Amino acid sequence: MRLDPPVKVTHEKITIDVHEIEPILQGPAMELKPWPPATVVLRDGRTMLVRAARLDEVQTLLEYVRKVMQFEHDFYDIVGARVYAELLGWYRKRLKDPYVMVGMIDGQLAGIINGRLKDKDINISHHTLTFMRSGRVGAVLFYCKAYYAFEILGNTEFWSTYESYNGWRIGSLAMAQPSYPWPEYQHELGGARVYYVSRDYWDSTIKDYARQMVGSDLNFDVSEEVIKANHTIPAPGEVTV
Ligand SMILES: CC(C)(COP(=O)(O)OP(=O)(O)OC[C@H]1O[C@@H](n2cnc3c(N)ncnc32)[C@H](O)[C@@H]1OP(=O)(O)O)[C@@H](O)C(=O)NCCC(=O)NCCS
Repeated sequence: MRLDPPVKVTHEKITIDVHEIEPILQGPAMELKPWPPATVVLRDGRTMLVRAARLDEVQTLLEYVRKVMQFEHDFYDIVGARVYAELLGWYRKRLKDPYVMVGMIDGQLAGIINGRLKDKDINISHHTLTFMRSGRVGAVLFYCKAYYAFEILGNTEFWSTYESYNGWRIGSLAMAQPSYPWPEYQHELGGARVYYVSRDYWDSTIKDYARQMVGSDLNFDVSEEVIKANHTIPAPGEVTV
């Protein structure tokens, strides 16, 4: 759009340095406490390490996601495409206060979880995506996200929504989550229903859910050996889900 200036100006052109635009597009980041590495013994006896993903791992994670978004079954395509954009959003600093964690089993990538902070109170869950089926990898990872919100970050609400039946089952059904009236409240993922866990509900009912689900608690006393064994996400080979 162009209009004539209502006053005589000495310079008709202004140059803007992109370094000055960037703070406006990024916005100031909140200081988020990192997720401390934790292990959980799955019901089949395997131990999964859940740790924060590193920014330098994004390209490898994108390679995994590219592979699973080729699958049309079980909503891997739409969830994969959205996770791909969210990982890039983190990498390119176009997502407000994101967090990403990975589940690793014996040095292999088992799954990814991510979300972001709307503000200091509301934690918005984005996705849970697994590369190993069965074993309740996804259910445990989803629980870790809620644990992160309430126990580590001190949030008061955890919002989710679901594209897939399996996702709905591990979140909404298994945690008996209530939802806000729809369409008055809409989740940022496609405007779908917002399901939520409040702090009171977490404290009274959900906090011990990992034990019910897989028969084991999160263990934050992780050995150096396990950390080391799962430090590097290997490049993906053939991925089938
Ligand atoms: C949703 C998701 C994270 C759940 O992961 P999960 O908890 O590890 O569970 P799975 O989907 O592997 O399996 C769910 C159940 O169906 C069975 N199952 C279903 N499809 C299966 C398959 N193709 N291979 C093996 N098991 C399968 C599992 O044994 C399991 O049964 P159980 O609960 O009695 O153990 C995972 O299915 C996934 O990444 N899906 C695609 C992305 C997605 O939908 N994310 C959530 C968005 S809302």
